[in-house]
Amino acid sequence: MGHFLATDPEGCWVAVEDGTDRVVGFALSQNRGPLWLLITYGVLPGLQGKGIGKRLMDAVLAHAGDRPGMFISTIHPGATRRYWRAGFTLHPLMGLTGTVDRTTLPAVTGLHEGTPDDIDWMDRLDTALRGAGHGPDHLHLLETMRLVVSRDPKNPGYAYLDPRGRTHLLAAQHPSTARTLLWEALASAPSGRPTGIPPAVTAANHWAVDVGLSARLDLLQDGYLALRGLAAPAPYLPSGRFL
Ligand SMILES: CC(C)(COP(=O)(O)OP(=O)(O)OC[C@H]1O[C@@H](n2cnc3c(N)ncnc32)[C@H](O)[C@@H]1OP(=O)(O)O)[C@@H](O)C(=O)NCCC(=O)NCCS
Repeated sequence: MGHFLATDPEGCWVAVEDGTDRVVGFALSQNRGPLWLLITYGVLPGLQGKGIGKRLMDAVLAHAGDRPGMFISTIHPGATRRYWRAGFTLHPLMGLTGTVDRTTLPAVTGLHEGTPDDIDWMDRLDTALRGAGHGPDHLHLLETMRLVVSRDPKNPGYAYLDPRGRTHLLAAQHPSTARTLLWEALASAPSGRPTGIPPAVTAANHWAVDVGLSARLDLLQDGYLALRGLAAPAPYLPSGRFL
């Protein structure tokens, strides 16, 4: 939250109980150039369904203006209703979970460890795929996760991986590079330990389902990618927080 408050504070709102400082709801959104992202949104359970969420959503949508928007939605009935009212289409998301069968892992070549010097072309790739670079979010992600890149100028791509081998953001120009990056992620999962592909896979990214099922992970469905004025990016696996 500190990163988002420091980067685009006008997109961050809280609902406070009258007469006290008690925060009862929040909505964090960010503009990244011409793209709007909803980062997180919630109202205390006992106070849901009373219109607080609507007022928070109105505030962050005013910050969005007429920008295209993207975020990951839970299946909460109040959330999906609120997003539908705001003009978003909801694209079901798939994920995969389980333990990688290491006999399925292909030999992976052409990838390198990423550095801050890669961010320029990564932002250009982001812009081609989702209309805007991640800009300051790349620096933040680099501090917290492993970055793997394909620097081939005709076939660029990158992925951020956590220590369990899960991909938190993956972008590529071609599905073949996307598949290679995802195989590298799964290969990096500690042997015999549970891992997965977070539920960020739209139908437009079926290449990720192919990789996950080939690695003998189990397919699941959870949540939606909410989109306005934007087609589902591909080959692309959005990050829940940085999209
Ligand atoms: C989503 C959330 C922030 C909305 O806040 P809220 O204060 O409940 O929202 P509102 O009272 O303004 O209601 C939003 C709409 O959903 C409806 N709604 C709210 N809770 C509902 C529920 N449990 N079941 C069905 N509809 C519900 C409201 O009637 C309203 O629809 P309407 O305007 O057509 O009448 C809140 O419900 C929440 O925190 N949910 C759990 C966390 C979550 O899923 N956050 C979203 C992350 S993407």
